[in-house]
Amino acid sequence: MERLKDWILVQQREQSLQDLMALLRIPSISTDPQYKEEVRRCAQWLKDYITSLGADEVAVWESGGHPAVYAYFKAQHQAPTVLVYGHYDVQPVDPLALWDHPPFEPVIKETALHPDGAIFARGACDNKGQFMMHLQAIKALKNTTGLPCNVKLIIEGEEEIGSPNLENVIKTHRETLQADAILVSDTAMLGLDTPSLTVGLRGLVYLEIRLQGPNRDLHSGVYGGAVENPIHVLCRIIANLKDENNRITIPGFYDDVRTLSEEERKLIQSIPFDEEAYKRAIGVQVLATEKGFSPIECTGIRPSMDVNGIWGGYTGEGAKTVLPSKAAAKLSFRLVPHQDPDKIQALVIDYLKKQMPKTVRYEIISYHGGKPFLTDMNSNAYKAAVEAMKETLGKPPIPTYEGGSIPILSTLQTYLNAPVVLMGFGLDSDAIHSPNEHFGIKNYLLGTWTIAVFHHYFYKKERISTD
Ligand code: BES
Ligand code: MN
Repeated sequence: MERLKDWILVQQREQSLQDLMALLRIPSISTDPQYKEEVRRCAQWLKDYITSLGADEVAVWESGGHPAVYAYFKAQHQAPTVLVYGHYDVQPVDPLALWDHPPFEPVIKETALHPDGAIFARGACDNKGQFMMHLQAIKALKNTTGLPCNVKLIIEGEEEIGSPNLENVIKTHRETLQADAILVSDTAMLGLDTPSLTVGLRGLVYLEIRLQGPNRDLHSGVYGGAVENPIHVLCRIIANLKDENNRITIPGFYDDVRTLSEEERKLIQSIPFDEEAYKRAIGVQVLATEKGFSPIECTGIRPSMDVNGIWGGYTGEGAKTVLPSKAAAKLSFRLVPHQDPDKIQALVIDYLKKQMPKTVRYEIISYHGGKPFLTDMNSNAYKAAVEAMKETLGKPPIPTYEGGSIPILSTLQTYLNAPVVLMGFGLDSDAIHSPNEHFGIKNYLLGTWTIAVFHHYFYKKERISTD
């Protein structure tokens, strides 16, 4: 076991960083059609890389959209199987001007939170750096102790656009993907000195709403006062979606929200949280939490609503007196167990329709959604993750609820009937989806080591419970 640690933290340190940087140089932006070939090149790069690690099987699976990469590493003995899920696609880089370095030319720099250095690049944390830890762990295990468990990998190219084709791929390859546990590193932890395991993620409903008033932009002096302004209607409707207690006003919206037991709430209250530091880090003076709930509860176990974008009218230099013909906005709702995205979407659309005055015409478009997710904390896989973190980070992990979404998890869990463990090593401050995204080198290396140790504990726990 000492050899395993030394291999990862010392011997392979440089090589594993170089390999991650090579992967980060490929601009695999899934949402932008201009990058289609780069996304495919990234899948091919992974296939070649995984082949070089000595996989028993590697394949690029067509999905109809961006392909997924599948691989299989077989242990030398009868062993349980761990399926690793990750995504090699990344978010767009804009606003490019706010990056200190080009997003696809990774650089290592020290920061206050990462005194040992962090790799800066789009995808460094979400998710290339995080799934690369699994490949490095496999390589390390193969070169030291041997693989305790069989390992399968599915690394997709469409997570950032809502995994529209992955359910079909999973359905088609269900037998091939069969596993005893699903391990995912695509979440954050509280810190290396306060290890945590994510036990809940939120679901998602995403809509775009487009309003049209007059058939063309009008002179606001000539027509203003007689003709409805669609931007005004849109703003009024959006403003009314939340009340003065920061509760969403849509009737029935909270009906299926799970109420937590006192025990669960206590657990959440025990999660270390420094409100002042939280506010300072994002530059706000006062938070806007739902009445009766703490900030951690509001992002973890309560649903939320956000306007992701809004446009219309004149936004250029100077003043233009116009009464615009059109206005539009993108709205998203984060959901918690046991809210159903289809049901919530129907409620939201119904409510929006009822709010719409006769003075405008409108169109509502729905984008990807996803179910919320909860981890089974009684599974061998979860317990093995706890043991692994105790060993490598010196403390038992704190269970946390995170506000982001990985919609495919509930699909994977259902089709494969295996427990999912979310063992992520990112930090909230890593700026995923933002300019200057980065991933701490220490997080990368200790994460790799923890994953490798997980495989040993999972093997032991599964062997004992099947004896
Ligand atoms: N890795 C994130 C999800 C995440 C972020 C989990 C932070 C926990 C903490 C993932 O890549 C992501 O960004 N998901 C999207 C959803 C998707 C449908 C676009 C999200 O949460 O907005
Ligand atoms: Mn993401």
